[in-house]
Amino acid sequence: MNTQNQPKLAAFPPSAETVKRAHVTADDYAQMYAASVSDPETFWADQGKRVDWMTPFTKVKNTSFEPGNIDIRWFEDGTLNVSANCIDRHLETRADQTAIIWEPDDPSKEDAQHITYRDLHASVCKMANVLKELGVEKGDRVVIYLPMIPEAAYAMLACARIGAIHSIVFAGFSPDALGARINGCDAKVVITADHAPRGGRETPLKSNTDAALLHCKDSVKCLVVKRTGGQTTWTDRDYDCNALMADASAECAPAEMNAEDPLFILYTSGSTGQPKGVVHTSGGYLVYASMTHEIVFDYQDGDVFWCTADVGWVTGHSYIVYGPLANGATTIMFEGVPTFPDAGRFWEVCAKHKVNQFYTAPTAIRALMGAGNEWVEKHDLSDLRLLGSVGEPINPEAWNWYNEVVGKGKCPIVDTFWQTETGGHMLTPLPGATTLKPGAAQQPFFGVQPVVLEPTSGEVVEGNGVEGVLCIAGSWPGQMRTVWGDHERFEKTYFSDYKGYYFSGDGCRRDEDGDYWITGRVDDVINVSGHRMGTAEVESALVAHAKVAESAVVGYPHDVKGQGIYAYVTLMNGEEPSDELRKELETWVRTEIGPIAKPDLIQWAPGLPKTRSGKIMRRILRKIAEDDFGALGDTSTLADPSVVDDLIENRMNRR
Ligand code: PRX
Repeated sequence: MNTQNQPKLAAFPPSAETVKRAHVTADDYAQMYAASVSDPETFWADQGKRVDWMTPFTKVKNTSFEPGNIDIRWFEDGTLNVSANCIDRHLETRADQTAIIWEPDDPSKEDAQHITYRDLHASVCKMANVLKELGVEKGDRVVIYLPMIPEAAYAMLACARIGAIHSIVFAGFSPDALGARINGCDAKVVITADHAPRGGRETPLKSNTDAALLHCKDSVKCLVVKRTGGQTTWTDRDYDCNALMADASAECAPAEMNAEDPLFILYTSGSTGQPKGVVHTSGGYLVYASMTHEIVFDYQDGDVFWCTADVGWVTGHSYIVYGPLANGATTIMFEGVPTFPDAGRFWEVCAKHKVNQFYTAPTAIRALMGAGNEWVEKHDLSDLRLLGSVGEPINPEAWNWYNEVVGKGKCPIVDTFWQTETGGHMLTPLPGATTLKPGAAQQPFFGVQPVVLEPTSGEVVEGNGVEGVLCIAGSWPGQMRTVWGDHERFEKTYFSDYKGYYFSGDGCRRDEDGDYWITGRVDDVINVSGHRMGTAEVESALVAHAKVAESAVVGYPHDVKGQGIYAYVTLMNGEEPSDELRKELETWVRTEIGPIAKPDLIQWAPGLPKTRSGKIMRRILRKIAEDDFGALGDTSTLADPSVVDDLIENRMNRR
């Protein structure tokens, strides 16, 4: 092929200064990566030393991706306590260092709080003792439905301290979604707050919880944190968290946990059915979160690290709480949104707390890019040393803006590809080792063995300049262990399409240099503002409405959100489409699932394109939603091809 006239891709080698400071240089990477895959036992035995063990492990890796026997264990005979690793072991050297900087939603009403490791220890012990008083024991499940307040971190670490398994439900989810998760993991206690302030508005978390609990066992207890002091109803199952913590002891011995005891469950969307409870365990997860946090972000002692995610998502688990605190870092917990009180909020917080590493999602970067450079330029960002991106592919325009306007051309950008299931980063540049390419996730982290497979045959595609589905050969310590209560679903979802591999659900390209580019999900999962949503979930919410007969939901390209939600809706006989009904359905989905699931576009569809056997041809619906109906492919197998013409004529997305 003649490549002479092809435009050369921009590439950004690390600066001499970055290389000098970095934990890992290009030479280190090559040597360490080779060691991590050729002798994982030795490599991870060494990394296992990042963690303080109560009983040291003697076995490192015991993992199988064999059909019928999916079994993943790391450090399986070691014992530890995750909360002691995140707090107690730092007390000797950094008791007075700030562990968490909490930044409130509205800076004109409240000040930031600096919580030292000593304070964190006391608050976590108190909360742990409160949970014990409520009858929570080792192995019990606790659902956390809180705003981004320090109590969310206390609650996570308190569970870890007594060996309870937490399951956080993002505060933007509806009562129905919350209730389903409380029941799904059979939680003993749910921890919530009166209200959650966000972007100047308030979500009534306690009354949402009351509504959710109507569908749960009477024995579930509700621990309520006072956030705003706003009015709430009070029932027999409610306990006042602030009052109980005030009286509780500030000492609580950490429970001895096995490396493979579950640390948390986090529900996430899949391509079929209802969200599944991803289970992460204690030892391997912590080693992996700690290592990726230190190396990928080039975290150095004394740095201030800010991950803007919510603890309701895995990013918040691994890179606000567990990774940073295991490393004795100072981590920021931000309650607000990027555009409140104005579009300079992120940069104001960076300047105020002298942030060194800043980690956010492309959707936020695009929104802030649209707000104009002046919002960035009025703040002093001179302490920034590294920028990160996560959640979806970042388009080169947003990458360049992030690099030039925010990073002033001197901060490497780590575009980290990973998933709720993977526990930590999988493909990512390393700041001191990688020549960056805007939009590429680039290279595997240590121990991660990506393979590109031909989607239909499942054959391994060798060489560079190739495309296919992304799978991983072999296990890594941060990998999820099972789906809560349904190991069969774990195997079916991740190990059955391509036998012997973990299937990510993403497509990817390996370029001529061997760098990986994620091309997006190849299943029915859509990625809205970096949040995962299963099309099946939105469909089942829509058909639960009395006026809806049928619905099909697909993603379509959206300038700010990355992907938007496009719903085709067939109404019941006799129902008339109207703008009011459209609004009603939008509100309906918000209430059924939460605001993030609200369809961006609803098209009335008198019929859906189906094969003669009744299967909806989503490929066609996706094309029409993308406004790319010139190439619909073969429609001859449709039961009624004329349906397609109507859908094209009345399409909602016209570019
Ligand atoms: O499609 C990939 C996309 O987000 C999915 C995982 O979503 P979730 O489990 O919610 O976790 C998000 C945060 C870890 C992936 O299957 N994704 C995540 N990061 C990237 C990405 N796509 C491209 N580039 C990324 N850096």
